[in-house]
Amino acid sequence: MSAATRPIGVFDSGVGGLSVLRALRAELPHEQFVYVADSGHAPYGERDDDHVTTRSHAIADYLLGQHQIKALVVACNTATAAAIKTLRAAYPSIPLVGIEPALKPAAAASQTKTVGVMATRGTLQSEKFQALLASLHGQATFVLQPCDGLAIAIEHNDAIKIEALCAEYTGAMGLFGLNSAAMDTLVLGCTHYPFVESVLRRSIGEQVTLLEGGAPVARQTRRLLDAAGLLAPTAAGQSVAPTQFLTTGHVEDLRSAAQRWLQLDTQVGALGV
Ligand code: DGL
Repeated sequence: MSAATRPIGVFDSGVGGLSVLRALRAELPHEQFVYVADSGHAPYGERDDDHVTTRSHAIADYLLGQHQIKALVVACNTATAAAIKTLRAAYPSIPLVGIEPALKPAAAASQTKTVGVMATRGTLQSEKFQALLASLHGQATFVLQPCDGLAIAIEHNDAIKIEALCAEYTGAMGLFGLNSAAMDTLVLGCTHYPFVESVLRRSIGEQVTLLEGGAPVARQTRRLLDAAGLLAPTAAGQSVAPTQFLTTGHVEDLRSAAQRWLQLDTQVGALGV
């Protein structure tokens, strides 16, 4: 198999990375993807860095060893914050793309210069996030909200819990809207959260700008593949190349999430890494 025809590996602590996969499939329709949901070891955002780093390396090793991936996308803010450095050191020869909360575009987009950030506790406490925040000092006021339990509620599609937690966390953050000093921009700093946008809108209204990182990650993946000469050849007559789905948790959770959010009827394999 030539290097360019190999698949791209994508992983998250669970179903959240499907929001990134959706953008990747749209940006790179000729690429094959192998998606790993580490739901058996989630949530990452409420565990220590060692856990997240160990899991990230185990999955990367598996994807490289068993699927000969040509590139790796870490579709998880928490795993990027904890492990992207050591992953880059361990796999210097493949394009590696991580995701981080979209603070910079949010500061630029905000008119009120007041930006809300919802993310996991792990992401907000990480050195990487704190450095990003410090680099934007003076450009906007950021209201940070750790969202314990929300990723897992989304993982299990628990509508009652999702509704309650979204209302609680947005309520705790303060005023949303276009009035001065209100948050007119909200960063979704966890890849699970784009899937509850409609629930969040019930609390924050329709005018607030929501920012997530899927599309920029997809564009960066294209750039890196292109620079390395690794873009998949365009096969005549092929519309969207196949994606393989694997999970360390419940197969049905990932199968139904892929159907609900990506409109894909797919088989999901159980993974024991
Ligand atoms: N989807 C992950 C992120 O982007 C975190 C979810 C979890 O806590 O496992 O941060």
